[in-house]
Amino acid sequence: MEWVYISDLKDHIGETITIKGWMYNIRSSKKIHFLQLRDGTGRIQGIMEKKKVGDEVFNRIKRLKIESSVVITGQARKDDRAPSGFELDVESLEIISEPDEDYPISKKEHGIEFLMDNRHLWLRSSKQFHVLRIRNEVIKAIRDFYNSRAYILVDTPIFTGAIGEAAGNLFEVKYFDYGNAYLAQTGQLYLEAACMSLGKVYNLGPTFRAEKSKTRRHLTEFWMNEAEVAYYDNEDNMRLQEDFVSFVVQQVLRTAGEDLEAIGRDTSKLEKIEAPFPRMSYDDAIEFLHQNGYDDIQWGDDLGAEHETVISDQFEKPVMVYNYPAKAKAFYMEPHPDRPDVVLCNDMLAPEGYGEIIGASQRIHDYDVLVEKIKENNLPMESYDWYLDLRKYGSVPHSGYGLGVERTVSWISGIKHVREAIPFPRTLNRLKP
Ligand code: 4AD
Ligand code: MG
Repeated sequence: MEWVYISDLKDHIGETITIKGWMYNIRSSKKIHFLQLRDGTGRIQGIMEKKKVGDEVFNRIKRLKIESSVVITGQARKDDRAPSGFELDVESLEIISEPDEDYPISKKEHGIEFLMDNRHLWLRSSKQFHVLRIRNEVIKAIRDFYNSRAYILVDTPIFTGAIGEAAGNLFEVKYFDYGNAYLAQTGQLYLEAACMSLGKVYNLGPTFRAEKSKTRRHLTEFWMNEAEVAYYDNEDNMRLQEDFVSFVVQQVLRTAGEDLEAIGRDTSKLEKIEAPFPRMSYDDAIEFLHQNGYDDIQWGDDLGAEHETVISDQFEKPVMVYNYPAKAKAFYMEPHPDRPDVVLCNDMLAPEGYGEIIGASQRIHDYDVLVEKIKENNLPMESYDWYLDLRKYGSVPHSGYGLGVERTVSWISGIKHVREAIPFPRTLNRLKP
């Protein structure tokens, strides 16, 4: 019998076919089993009638444990009442493997720690299945955007010798005669080198930060997409970001619409995500916060999560907050020409309380200014010799950004915590599974 994936059933109506998958639930009446089946591409109900399969098989299946792997043969039939639109009239069922014990995840409410301990099994649950599919479409859309604009993919290293962002949250690993290497916090410095060769470049890969904070936005290992463009200033950079994020959201609405619907995402909110996006200077953001009773924050501080939320709550689209104080940001950002205490940069804050999804800036392109900044930040000059070379040989203004993949997936999916936006999350107290 032909093996067909559930997602392809529409082309096999009326045929007798085979599905290879797992039984994730069963309901029974005296004469009929309603088998809930999944095969990695979708879910379908199989109808098994006692009179068709005989008493012995029927009674055996009644005791079949949830998450048994099964190969089922039957006739596919259109059924408008079924969530998938199809049902399968089961003719035979072969058990490939049956658990000895009851499956640990049931319909009852489990605590998050239990679910995370069982992440390797939890991935099979409906919501997790859909979120992983949405993540897949988000990453595809990210790549499609750059490909549509002829950006070149440049894979940046994971082992690095120079601090990319800040000294505070580095992971160090032993590295032969060098003593230590750092796991990359960002690939930006390498993309800056690459854009002087290839013009417009991007990367997509894991990055690492020893975040001690337990928040719903922080992982210790997260995926970042970064872009870097030679001859782009901060304005060009902000326009690129709003085009990019609009493209990703609109494409994912088309390609993962059914997954978003299945997990109950209000997609009308995402339909509004079209460039241009609102902008607000950091100065105005502070004034807005003070007017709204947030007296704890001073000019010069970075925005906290709750500040970001009240600011972004003013808008239906992501808002770009630009020109932060230099002391709140990383060492490589270009100073404002008229205000040396301010840098040409922006963060993009997603709506609905999802906070910062992008960090961005124009980069310092002047050799002496960069040397000064490295010193000011107490960073080891000798590890930046190659980075300084970029300012010696044909230096140009250039800009770029980094988008957090898990925060973006969380926002688009409407899930509260980034830990569900990555297959196997790594946090302060989780290294298993
Ligand atoms: O704002 P960040 O630190 O920017 C950079 O790393 C720049 N070098 C990027 C660049 O200009 N090329 O990080 C970028 C984004 C954040 O906006 C956030 O979405 C995400 O990465 N991010 C995290 N996501 C999950 N867990 C964490 N601990 C994160 N830290 C940053
Ligand atoms: Mg940031």
